[in-house]
Amino acid sequence: MEQDLKKLMNEEQLKQREQLKLLAGKAAVDALVKSGMKLGLGTGSTAIHAVRRVGELLAQGTLRDICAFATSLQTEIECEKLGIPFYTLNSRELADGLDLTIDGADEIDPQNRLIKGGGGALLIEKVTAYSSSLYAIVADESKLTDRLGYGFPVPVEVIPAARVQAAKALDRLGAKVILREAVRKAGPVITEHGNIILDIRFNLPAMQGKTIDPSIMEAELNQIPGIVENGFFTRKPLMAFIARSDGTVETRPAV
Ligand code: A5P
Repeated sequence: MEQDLKKLMNEEQLKQREQLKLLAGKAAVDALVKSGMKLGLGTGSTAIHAVRRVGELLAQGTLRDICAFATSLQTEIECEKLGIPFYTLNSRELADGLDLTIDGADEIDPQNRLIKGGGGALLIEKVTAYSSSLYAIVADESKLTDRLGYGFPVPVEVIPAARVQAAKALDRLGAKVILREAVRKAGPVITEHGNIILDIRFNLPAMQGKTIDPSIMEAELNQIPGIVENGFFTRKPLMAFIARSDGTVETRPAV
């Protein structure tokens, strides 16, 4: 009985959270997307709502002439279903870069710095972020955190041949390292770029109280041979649309 009640509460919470993700995704598209834009479309359960809103507005004829870039197979398949025209970043259509990218995040700190890559798409998501004139994040309020790197793990994309040496180097920096395992496939997750992901969390006691600065760590991690990219996103000014549990959407300006 008590367990049934707990299950019901959890289902209710999940529904509410889904509702907030939808609110954030829709708010960002309605505020920022204009006809004729070259548009980066992010990955994950929040960004997908932005993708669906773009599809809806295109179908209604409210939006026209969108050239999209999908940051993952998940997003590409959704674009296909919705009839959103998409191109590669190397195509002539997108060679001058993107006007706007809308993406989700795993954590957001008070300076609008992010952890991304919970869905494994961090590498192309970072390329997309830096190829966009305007970068907007959509999230529900559960993604807000006081500091990055100690709670939600930071994904680090590594070439398979560097797995052990990169893990040792990360350990020397004070990080606890976990190889991301696949679900319904034996062995590790293989990214869309053929790499593996090491999820790291900085361990305060092991670092004797020394805290990390995500902005410095973003650059430092990429100095380790074999690491292709990491999930700290600290250098790109961004707007954020944060859906609150009271049904409002806080718009944080780009800083
Ligand atoms: C994908 O690799 C990620 O960067 C996602 O944008 C991030 O994990 C947020 O996903 P959700 O909106 O599903 O939480």
